[in-house]
Amino acid sequence: MGDIAVVTGASGGIGRAVAKAIHEKSEGGLTLCLHYNGNRKAADAAAAEIPGSFLVQADLAQAEGRKRLLDEVVGRGAPYVLVNSAGVDKPHEPALQIQESSFDSIVNANLRAPAFLMRDFGKEMAAAGSGVIVNVSSVLARKALVGSALYRASKAALEALTLQFASELGPRGVRVNAVVPGFIETPMTAGIAQPIKDKMLSQIALGGFGEAAAVAQAVCALIENDYLNGALLNVDGGMTL
Ligand SMILES: NC(=O)c1ccc[n+]([C@@H]2O[C@H](COP(=O)([O-])OP(=O)(O)OC[C@H]3O[C@@H](n4cnc5c(N)ncnc54)[C@H](OP(=O)(O)O)[C@@H]3O)[C@@H](O)[C@H]2O)c1
Repeated sequence: MGDIAVVTGASGGIGRAVAKAIHEKSEGGLTLCLHYNGNRKAADAAAAEIPGSFLVQADLAQAEGRKRLLDEVVGRGAPYVLVNSAGVDKPHEPALQIQESSFDSIVNANLRAPAFLMRDFGKEMAAAGSGVIVNVSSVLARKALVGSALYRASKAALEALTLQFASELGPRGVRVNAVVPGFIETPMTAGIAQPIKDKMLSQIALGGFGEAAAVAQAVCALIENDYLNGALLNVDGGMTL
């Protein structure tokens, strides 16, 4: 078993909670690699909560950023966990107004980055004969919301990739799953207009928005349960019922 857990987007709301939960569950058995891109202040705050962790800055939409993250990790030890939490949901464009530039930025961050991180970290894990990858999808992969066409497409494709990698890596001792959050209160959702929030709230059976800690608990369950492979686990309070 490897000794490093990599969390991309650990400067973000969900990534930070995931990193903290993995650290606590592993009781120090896994060293946390906290990835961030532009928000060093938030990354420092995440690292301050996790003794022994280390930070890596990288734009994961770029091949050179992904290579830097891989090199930093394998230079310190063997990766056992990879959580692909880094992602973007903006710009919010109605279907008839989607832009080529938005396609590139959203698909590169939400699909290209996890695809090639899974390939490269997956090779390391398969060579070691064990590992766990958790991708962070979204209920919007399966649900219409004006302004989310490209985001929806990127997350739906990420779910397909999750299942394909689960199928091909499972025999090599590497499990691949995804967590599927609903509306979680983080910097990503902080600026959403109140009428849209109200509409979403009316669709959630439990009647409230989720906390990043709830997603983190689900990620830990996907990591710990050694018979979960190719699972897509909703954490949405019943938003998709
Ligand atoms: N919040 C929700 O309701 C919700 C619901 C469903 C799914 N999700 C998914 O959950 C994941 C985390 O979202 P969040 O709510 O925690 O959002 P967040 O607080 O905005 O965090 C986003 C994270 O992604 C990183 N990131 C963005 N673009 C990047 C790039 N090109 N290269 C490297 N890192 C990049 C950011 O890094 P810096 O800030 O350091 O630049 C940040 O750490 C995303 O994949 C999102 O799609 C969120």
